[in-house]
Amino acid sequence: MKILVTGGAGYIGTHTAVELLDKGYEVVVVDNLSNSSKVAVERVEQITGKKVAFYEGDVRDRQLMKQIFDEHQIDWVIHFAGLKAVGESCSKPLEYYDNNLYGTLVLLETMREHNCKKLVFSSSATVYGNPEVLPLTEECKTGGTTNPYGTSKYFQEIILTDLHKSDNDWTVVLLRYFNPVGAHESGLIGEDPQGIPNNLTPFIAKVAIGELAEIGVFGNDYDTPDGTGVRDYIHVVDLAKGHVAAIDGIKESGRYVYNLGTGNGYSVLQVIDAFGKACNKKLPFAIKPRRAGDIATCYADASKAKRELGWEATHDIDDMCASLWNWQSKNPKGYKN
Ligand code: NAD
Ligand code: WQD
Repeated sequence: MKILVTGGAGYIGTHTAVELLDKGYEVVVVDNLSNSSKVAVERVEQITGKKVAFYEGDVRDRQLMKQIFDEHQIDWVIHFAGLKAVGESCSKPLEYYDNNLYGTLVLLETMREHNCKKLVFSSSATVYGNPEVLPLTEECKTGGTTNPYGTSKYFQEIILTDLHKSDNDWTVVLLRYFNPVGAHESGLIGEDPQGIPNNLTPFIAKVAIGELAEIGVFGNDYDTPDGTGVRDYIHVVDLAKGHVAAIDGIKESGRYVYNLGTGNGYSVLQVIDAFGKACNKKLPFAIKPRRAGDIATCYADASKAKRELGWEATHDIDDMCASLWNWQSKNPKGYKN
C-alpha cells in the first residue's frame, strides 16, 4: 500500500512516515519546506533504512499534485500540510486560509480526479473551542474557535464532512490531536521550531539548553489544581501510531472522528517539573500574565479510538520529556547542525 503524506517533512509527518515505513507501507511525501527541512526526510530514511519518494513543492500546485498522482498509485492520503501558528494566524488570516483551505481543496480535487478517496486529516482539539464539559468526547460541540488557525481546522472538517455526504465512497478520518510533544527515541527527528517557540515544551527545551533565559508561565490564577493551564500532552510517536491504526483499522468508507490524546491532564508547572527531571536541571521560570485566547483546562476522552481502532497512548509525560530532551540535546540547532 502506498500512502501520500502531505507535510511529511514536518514534525508529526516525519514521525508518521517512520511508523508507516516500519509497518511496510510505501511513503510518498510532498512538502514545500516552509516549516521544515529536507534533512528531516533523510533522517526518516536513516531510521527506517527505507526510501521515501520526496517531492519538494506545494499542495496548492495543481500541476505538481497531478504529477504525483500520475506517477504513483496512491491508496491513502494523510494530510498534514498546513500552517499552524495560532498567533501568526491572527496577523496573517488570508495566508492561513489560503494555505490551509485552498491547499485542502486542490488536494481533494486531485484525489477525486484520480479516484483516490481515502484521507486522514490532521485536525485539532482546538475545534472544540472553550470546552463546556470535560473530558472532551467526539460528540462535544465544535466551532467557537478563537483564531484563524483554529477556524481553518474547523472549516476543513466541514469541507470533508460535506464531501463525504455528497459521495459516500469517500473515507474521511478526522483525527483531533491534543498536545503533541516529544520525539522519536533515536533522537534523529523531532520538532524544530523556527525562532522563539510558541508552544510550551519546545520553549522549555530551549531554556534547558541555555538558548532562552527562563520559562514564562502564562497565568497561575486559573481554576486548576495549581492555577496553571492543564493540557492533554501526547507523545508524538503514539500520535503517529494513531494514524497507522486508522489506516489499518478502517475498512469501510465513511466519516470517522477520533480524539488522539492520553486522557490525562498536566499543568504547566507539572510539565516544567517533569522536564527538569528529564534533563537533570533546575529550570528557571517566572509567572506572567495569562496569554490571550488560552483556556484553563483541556483533555480528551480517548476511549473511542481504543474501542474502534485498538489504539491507545502508551507513553507518559516522563517519556515525552526524556525523548524531547534527547532530541534537543543531540540537535541543539535542530536540523541545521
Ligand atoms: P509542521 O509545521 O512541522 O508540519 C507541517 C508541514 O507542512 C511542514 O513541513 C511544512 O513545510 C508543510 N507545509 C505547510 N504548508 C504547505 C503547503 N501548502 N504545501 C506543502 N507543504 C506545506 O507541523 P506539525 O506540528 O507536524 O503539524 C502537522 C499538522 O498537524 C498540521 O496540519 C497542524 O495544523 C496539525 N496539528 C498540529 C498540532 C501541533 O500541536 N503540532 C496539533 C493539532 C494539529
Ligand atoms: C500549553 C500550556 C499555555 C507556552 C496550541 C494550539 C492548539 C494545538 C496545540 C494545533 C497553556 C502554557 C505555553 C509558554 C506557558 N495546535 N504556556 N508558557 O495553547 O494548548 O495549544 O498547540 O492545533 O491549537 O492552540 O499549547 O503548548 O502553546 O500551551 O505557560 O511559553 O502552556 O498557557 O496553558 P496550547 P501550548
